[in-house]
Amino acid sequence: MSEIKRTRIVDLLNQHNFNQKISVKGWVRTRRGNKQIAFIALNDGSTIHNIQVVADTDKFGEEFLKSITTGACIGVNGLLVESQGQGQTTEIQAEEIEIYGASDPATYPLQKKGHTLEFLREIAHLRPRTNTFGAIFRIRHHLAFAIHEYFNKQGFFYFHTPLITASDAEGAGSMFQVTTLNLNDLPQTENGAIDYSQDFFGRSTNLTVSGQLEGELGAMALGGIYTFGPTFRAENSNTPRHLAEFWMIEPEIAFIDINENMDIAEDFVKYVIAYVMQHCKDDIEFLNKMYDNELIDRLNFVIHNRFVRLTYSEGIEILEKSGKKFEYPVYWGADLQSEHERYLVEEHFKRPVILTDYPKEIKSFYMKQNDDGKTVRGMDVLFPKIGEIIGGSEREADYQKLLNRIQELHMSLDNLWWYLDTRKFGTAPHAGFGLGFERLVLFLTGMTNIRDVIPFPRTPKNAAF
Ligand code: 4AD
Ligand code: MG
Repeated sequence: MSEIKRTRIVDLLNQHNFNQKISVKGWVRTRRGNKQIAFIALNDGSTIHNIQVVADTDKFGEEFLKSITTGACIGVNGLLVESQGQGQTTEIQAEEIEIYGASDPATYPLQKKGHTLEFLREIAHLRPRTNTFGAIFRIRHHLAFAIHEYFNKQGFFYFHTPLITASDAEGAGSMFQVTTLNLNDLPQTENGAIDYSQDFFGRSTNLTVSGQLEGELGAMALGGIYTFGPTFRAENSNTPRHLAEFWMIEPEIAFIDINENMDIAEDFVKYVIAYVMQHCKDDIEFLNKMYDNELIDRLNFVIHNRFVRLTYSEGIEILEKSGKKFEYPVYWGADLQSEHERYLVEEHFKRPVILTDYPKEIKSFYMKQNDDGKTVRGMDVLFPKIGEIIGGSEREADYQKLLNRIQELHMSLDNLWWYLDTRKFGTAPHAGFGLGFERLVLFLTGMTNIRDVIPFPRTPKNAAF
C-alpha cells in the first residue's frame, strides 16, 4: 500500500473536503454487499461512528474481499466521497486495501452483536472493540482530562502521593500487603512474630487506600493540591459499586472550612460533568439510547440544580419518618447504606444531597471534631443511582485533639508521627475530599456495574486480565 498519512475517522466524518486521497486504518465491524461491490463498516476507536468503505469486486477480487471479516484489522487508501447511502455523508471509495490482521469468523468472540455485559466481562481483553466500551473508555478519558483542567484552572497543583505506604490512611484495615519476604519461609522475631525488619522496606508495608494524609502535607506547603491515582482496598465487598483497585481524586485545600469544601466539591463535579457532556455528545447519546433513556436528563438535572445540604442527624430523622422498610435498620449512629442514601436522593429530595456532621464512630480519625463531642465535620456527597460519590471533611487541625483521637483508637504513632507534625509546625484549618473516579464514570455513562467502567476490573477472585 502506498504511504499516505493516516487520518482518524472522527476527523474524516467531520469534514466535507471531498475527492481527496486519504488513508484510514481500523477494525472491521461488518462487511456486506453483493457480487459487484462490498461495503465495509470500519471503526478506529476515535469515534463511535464507523466510516463506510466501498470496494469493487472487479478491483480486489472476491476471495480477497471475503477475507475481510468482522474483527479484522485493515488499512485503506482511497478517495473520500460524498455518500449515496442514507444516514451517512462521507464514505471511502477504496483504491488499495491491506489486511494487517485477519480474524477467524469461526472463533472471534465478537462476531455477532448483542452480547450481554456479563459475557463481555469474560472477554475484557476484547470488549474495548464494542461500541459500548469504546464509548465508556472515551468518556473515561475526557473525564480525567476535565478533572486536571478544573484543578489547574483553580490553581491547584497535581501532587503525587506514594502507592506503597506504611500507614493506614482510613484506619479501616482493609489493605493489600506489599512484601518481598518468602511466604513459604517467613523470618521470625524472638517472640514468634514475622520479622519485617528483613522485608524490602525494613518494615511492614501495604498498597495505599488513599493519598489524603500525604496530600495534607502538600496542602500545608503549596496551599491547594490534588491527587489523582489508583487506590487499593481489600474489602471483600462484592457489590456493583466497589472495586479492589479504583482511581481516586483527592483535593486538599489550606485555609478553608467544611462549607467552602462543599462549595468546591459541588462546583467541581458540575464542571466535569458539563465538560464531558460537551465533549462526548455522540457517546452519551449512544448510551442514552441503548442503556438508560433518562441518562441525559439526569446529567442535565444535576448540573443545573443546587445540591441539598443537611446534617446526618436530619437525614436519619427523615429516614426514620419515611415509613419505608429498609434492609438495614436506621438509627442514629448507623452507617448509612446505599439504600438509605438513595432514598434521600431519589425519593425524598429528588436531587443530589450533601450530608454533614456524622457520628465520630463511623468516620475516620482525622476529621475535625465538633463541640458536641459526638459528631465530626465529615461530608458525603450522594448522587442518584450511585449513593456516595464523594467523601470528605474538614480536618482536625488541633494537635492535642488529633493525638487524643489517635490514641483512643489505638492507632500506631510509629506510622503517623509525620502526619502529626503538620499540626505541630504551622498548623492551619484545612479540608478536602475524595471523589471515586469510577463512581462518577458510572454516573456519566448510565452503567449500573462498576466492573463495566474500568478496562480491567479488580474485584474479589477476579484479576484474570
Ligand atoms: O469515603 P472514602 O473512603 O474517603 C477517603 O478515602 C478520604 N481519604 C477522602 C478524602 O477526604 N481525601 O473514599 C472516597 C470515595 C468514595 O466516596 C467513593 O466514591 C470512592 O472513593 N470509593 C470507592 N470506589 C470504588 N470502589 C471502592 N471500593 C471504593 N471505596 C471508596
Ligand atoms: Mg466514604
